[in-house]
Amino acid sequence: MPGRPPASRRAVLRGAALTPLAGLGLTACGGGGDGGRAASAGPTAPVDLGAESDVPKGGAKLFRDANVVVSRAQDGGLKAYSTVCTHAGCPISKLSGTKLTCFCHGSEFDATTGEVLHEPATVPLPEVAVRAEDGRIVAGPSA
Ligand code: FES
Repeated sequence: MPGRPPASRRAVLRGAALTPLAGLGLTACGGGGDGGRAASAGPTAPVDLGAESDVPKGGAKLFRDANVVVSRAQDGGLKAYSTVCTHAGCPISKLSGTKLTCFCHGSEFDATTGEVLHEPATVPLPEVAVRAEDGRIVAGPSA
């Protein structure tokens, strides 16, 4: 049975998981895809996504035009993640419940945490700043 990887390998893996965060706002690399369209990794300016009531408690909504998924916890808190696939940069186009599916190669992600549910992607989706303002959901950096 395999044990934990040596400390040096864990450090490398941890560093790899953080890499997409540094790339927020930059164009995602689409070089590894086989026909996927590269897309922005997240809003670089505040984006009004719609009414707060559009995302129910315990639910999620995919905003394809902004490449963002927003979920709401049972306590009402909002979370948002980029929906540019971390595998090869395709825009993720399907949300079922709280599961995101990328049709380029079949990766799946949890819309409430950004975690990978199914490979080939191995890196979680980058979190995007989100807030409620005057009954609206606003993603991206503050104005
Ligand atoms: S780009 Fe390959 S699974 Fe999404």
